[in-house]
Amino acid sequence: MSDSSIFNRRKFLGASLAGAGVALSAKQTLAQAKPDPLITDVQDWQRYLGDGVDKRPYGTPSKFEKNVIRRDVPWLTASPESSVNFTPLHELDGIITPSGLCFERHHSGIAEIDPASHRLMINGLVEKPLVFTMDDIRRMPRVNKIYFLECAANSGMEWRGAQLNGCQFTHGMVHNVMYTGVSLKTLLDEAGVKSNAKWLMLEGADAAGMNRSLPIQKGLDDCILAFAMNGEALRSEQGYPLRAVIPGWEGNMWVKWIRRIEVGDQPWQTREETSKYTDLLADGRSRKHTFIMDAKSVVTNPSPQAPLKFKGRNVLSGLAWSGRGTVKRVDVSMDGGRNWQSARLDGPVLDKSLTRFYVDFDWSGQEMMIQSRAMDSTGYVQPSKDELRKVRGVNSIYHNNGIQTWLVRANGETENVEIG
Ligand code: MTE
Ligand code: CO
Repeated sequence: MSDSSIFNRRKFLGASLAGAGVALSAKQTLAQAKPDPLITDVQDWQRYLGDGVDKRPYGTPSKFEKNVIRRDVPWLTASPESSVNFTPLHELDGIITPSGLCFERHHSGIAEIDPASHRLMINGLVEKPLVFTMDDIRRMPRVNKIYFLECAANSGMEWRGAQLNGCQFTHGMVHNVMYTGVSLKTLLDEAGVKSNAKWLMLEGADAAGMNRSLPIQKGLDDCILAFAMNGEALRSEQGYPLRAVIPGWEGNMWVKWIRRIEVGDQPWQTREETSKYTDLLADGRSRKHTFIMDAKSVVTNPSPQAPLKFKGRNVLSGLAWSGRGTVKRVDVSMDGGRNWQSARLDGPVLDKSLTRFYVDFDWSGQEMMIQSRAMDSTGYVQPSKDELRKVRGVNSIYHNNGIQTWLVRANGETENVEIG
């Protein structure tokens, strides 16, 4: 750096500080500047040289972000191989979930597959049964798309009343990443689907051999077989080297480690679409093939793991999504649903993607009952939990998209509650 550029930089800093001073005194919303050792004393990080460029080949978050982790609920499942951990939604912002924080759900643990040994077969009602290597798939035309994945069991513990204390646990079986892959239509066209084909069966290469039936129209519409997420290869726990992306539909259908697609003329009635992922109603009948994830939202801040710390200026933040399209509007109530105001959507509002919303508000320390209600591009409005129970009863595990209530106490502590 030449002397003149140092000089210029100083001048620039000086000018911008003077500018900031004017802005502060004019607004008078922040604390008056007073002597503070963090301003007046030289700190270690300024006194000493920092570490050189990272010696680790792959970077990690700052050591001050140790709380930003996936968590599980130990009593929820019998074994870690057939279990789940949850995305820390209350620690995140924007709409993209960092790959290392995406919740995981496995039925028989994580398959570790060398991509050189992975194969994808397409068979059944096709002109030409085919087997693809990963190299074959990488030579086909690619697409990039951002989609949410929500497990059908997200919020499943809450059917009979408020249970888990934190949006990480009540709503954290959702993530939103950018996928890179090949559209399923491209692969099916290559094999030549026969005219009587109506259903696909997607099968995983994990020890569960997890499989689901998928209507062929959906398969030809917007599904992807992805090999990358957020710009790099899928993580093993997310299905490396290849997973199905079934936009807007329940997470269970997004078969990981996908090894086979069979084309047929009727659903296969697999375990995952009969004894599981069906919804037992109050009269003993079951809803089946409930593929689409309806509009849903949650306030992530404040929430039980992220209490309010300050009176005065605050940012309420949350996420909304719909498996039927885009989020049109999110309303927020601070008084348990009596009064509603429209939240500000900020950042990209994409089809079948998480959408970020904010309400900038002043808090005087009063108790609040915070709720959010999403409306999607079809006009569908997220129901209250009671409205949902009237139709669905309380036997269900899956597809609970009812409105969440957080009670914020006068000391800022926040709790999962329901309004009776
Ligand atoms: N695919 C296989 N092969 N095995 C599995 O156990 N779990 C399913 C689905 N695909 C599963 C699978 C379920 S229930 C969900 S919710 C999603 O994967 C979870 O995807 P994630 O682990 O990337 O969050
Ligand atoms: Co699931």
